[in-house]
Amino acid sequence: MVCHGGFSLDDAKRRAWYNPDAILHDLGLRAGRVFIDVGCADGFFTLLAAKAVGATGIVYAVDRDAQAIERLKAKAEQQNLYNIRVKVGAAEETVFCTACADFVFYSMALHDFEDPLQVLRNAKKMLKPTGMLADLDWKKQRNASGPPFEIRFSEQEAVELMKTAGFMVVNVKDVGPYHYLVTAKSNER
Ligand SMILES: C[S@@+](CC[C@H](N)C(=O)[O-])C[C@H]1O[C@@H](n2cnc3c(N)ncnc32)[C@H](O)[C@@H]1O
Repeated sequence: MVCHGGFSLDDAKRRAWYNPDAILHDLGLRAGRVFIDVGCADGFFTLLAAKAVGATGIVYAVDRDAQAIERLKAKAEQQNLYNIRVKVGAAEETVFCTACADFVFYSMALHDFEDPLQVLRNAKKMLKPTGMLADLDWKKQRNASGPPFEIRFSEQEAVELMKTAGFMVVNVKDVGPYHYLVTAKSNER
């Protein structure tokens, strides 16, 4: 799968930028948790999350790209992962379940959605009162890989969108040289 900037989403280069397992572990992803990957593509994080939550957990994944979802399904089968539920569709129209999720996760996707505010509002519906929103995305800087500078969200833009959607931002941090991670919780707990 090739995304913005022409790099393969499964590229080893990506693992040189950051450790995806450590990102999930540091979020608190453990066995038995419910994890929702929005804009999952062929499941780089979906598959890792499915291993982390194990047979007692569940991972929901949505992408509008049907071919990417087919690749994700094939990889899940190859890896004997049976705890993933996939959907082809728009994130703007996706609420898998209400107050069911421990985590709603976007990886390099929030800036891509046509209506990111609606997608965030959907996350709020899906998260448990104790749930965590996590947004890994490209820093708004010019570098050879990744999406065009103009469409990237700065950390501040992502934070403002989350606040508008009714989240309370918990943390903003750098993840490697090119990415940031914003975590947030519902402010109605
Ligand atoms: C840069 S890719 C990131 C994929 C994946 N999260 C990863 O880290 O490998 C962004 C993905 O978001 C998906 N996408 C963009 N807009 C979408 C929308 N409105 N609804 C669902 N998926 C969308 C694209 O099809 C693409 O697979």
